[in-house]
Formats: sequence, C-alpha cells, structure tokens
Amino acid sequence: MQPQNPFSQQSPIPGVKHIVAIASGKGGVGKSTVSANLAVALAKTGSKVGLLDCDIYGPSIPRLFGTINQKPAISEAGRIQPIDRYNVRLMSIGYLVDENSAVVWRGPMLFKAIDQFIKDVEWGELDYLLIDLPPGTGDVQLTIAQKVPLSGALTVCTPQNLALIDVKKALDMFMRINVPILGLIENMSYFANPTTGEKIQMFPKGELESFLDRTKIPKLIELPFYTTLAKASEVGIPVCEGTPDSDEAKLFQQLAGILKAKLEK
Ligand SMILES: Nc1ncnc2c1ncn2[C@@H]1O[C@H](COP(=O)(O)OP(=O)(O)OP(=O)(O)O)[C@@H](O)[C@H]1O
Ligand SMILES: [Mg+2]
Repeated sequence: MQPQNPFSQQSPIPGVKHIVAIASGKGGVGKSTVSANLAVALAKTGSKVGLLDCDIYGPSIPRLFGTINQKPAISEAGRIQPIDRYNVRLMSIGYLVDENSAVVWRGPMLFKAIDQFIKDVEWGELDYLLIDLPPGTGDVQLTIAQKVPLSGALTVCTPQNLALIDVKKALDMFMRINVPILGLIENMSYFANPTTGEKIQMFPKGELESFLDRTKIPKLIELPFYTTLAKASEVGIPVCEGTPDSDEAKLFQQLAGILKAKLEK
C-alpha cells in the first residue's frame, strides 16, 4: 500500500516499509497496550519491527517494555539508537528526557521532538514501524498524520458511546488528510467470568456497530478485558512475550496476521 497523503511534505524513512499509527480520540482505551503487544506479535512472525511512542506528555512504552531506566546510545554521527527489547526497536521521549521536562513543551518543541524521532533515530531496515499516538486530535497527532508517510491508521475503541464520540474525531482527522483507516480494534469488549465463562459487559454497548456499518470501517478484533493484560503493563513484559500461548496473546497474534495481510495487499 502506498502512502496517500497529498498535503504532507513527507520524506519516507529510508528502509521502513510500513508505518502504522495507533490512534483514538479517547484516553485510556488501550492504545499503548495494543501497540506493545502487536509489535511483539509481529516481531515473533519474523518481521523487523519498530515501535515509536509519540505520547510526549505521558509516554507508556518504556514501562510496558520494562525499560524505564534505559538511555539510548548515540552514534558518532549523532544518530539515536533505538532500545532493543523483545526483538522490537523502541523509541520514546521517556528515554530522552526526564519525566517532567516534556510536559511544558508546546508547538515548536513538539514538532522538533517528532522530527527527531523520524529523522535522527537509526531505525534501520524495518517491515513495520508502529506509532503509539497520544489521546486526542491535537498538534502531535496532526503533525504525525501530515509529516509521516503512514500506510494507515488503526483505531482503538471501547464499546461505549463516550469513547466512540472521540474516536470519530480521530477517524475524521485521518480521513480528511487521506490516511487510510485500516480498521478498528474493540478493546475491553467484555469480561469473561473465569468460572462460568459468562460474558459480562463492562461498558454499555453504544452505537459502535451501526457506526461501523455505516462507514464500512472494519472491526478487526474484539479484545476482552484480561486481568493479565493489566498486570503485564505493570511488570513490563507484554503478554505476547511472557505468555505467548495464552488466549490473550493469541488474539494479538491473530491481529498481527490481519494487519500483515491488509498491508501486503
Ligand atoms: N483488554 C484489556 N484488559 C485489561 N486491561 C487492559 C486492557 N487494555 C488495556 N488495559 C489496561 O488499561 C489501562 C490503559 O491502557 P493503555 O495505557 O494501553 O491505554 P491508552 O489508550 O494508551 O492510554 P493513554 O490515552 O493514556 O495513552 C492500562 O492499565 C492497561 O493495562
Ligand atoms: Mg497510551
């Protein structure tokens, strides 16, 4: 799939085949959890994978990968070396500045940071570079969507209308600048009672289904609520690495297969 964004002054990242943004207008719906596990799942298929954490104000990737105290090496040519973990090349503002200094950044500083992520990080040859976006549709998201030659965007949404309202804004932003929407991941769809298997709806079902029908945006997968996923975030080992045979890891492996097939089309 070729990048199709006519407004951007994009220069492709040399050696990187597909760049996919993981977005949602709403915070806390699971973008970083999905990004981390999808990256590991893709890497386990033998692909070369990078993951760029663009959440400048609240980077999660260092913690999700158990790499919070690591600092990237800088080559003699001044290029930033990604952190290698579980066969995924990682970059995050969390590796570059201390936790409190980025929170005051606005406009030019933000753009500079994103520009550095794209141009000054030695990503090397990659099949997939995933970009974990912050919530919302502000400067960071728009800059990425316009400056980076995205193959497409994945969006993460929980079932209720409160999330859908914000996700619609994110989708609208990508559509306006002609970034293909690869599909939606419904996260925390339900919680399966471990003894009875009964599905408990944690969030009220909203109008997500009718919205998807109307817009023809495919739902790629439904991810239930797994306590193991929440725990894995704290421990810093994504389930796809720690428990690759678990049901939850298998769903991410399935999602990786779906994404690969879509991008190779
Ligand atoms: N399917 C799931 N089952 C259980 N816990 C989950 C699931 N998905 C996400 N979580 C948990 O929900 C919390 C929020 O997830 P995460 O940080 O991935 O969301 P986010 O959309 O990236 O948030 P932000 O908007 O702040 O960047 C985390 O504690 C994570 O472990
Ligand atoms: Mg996040």
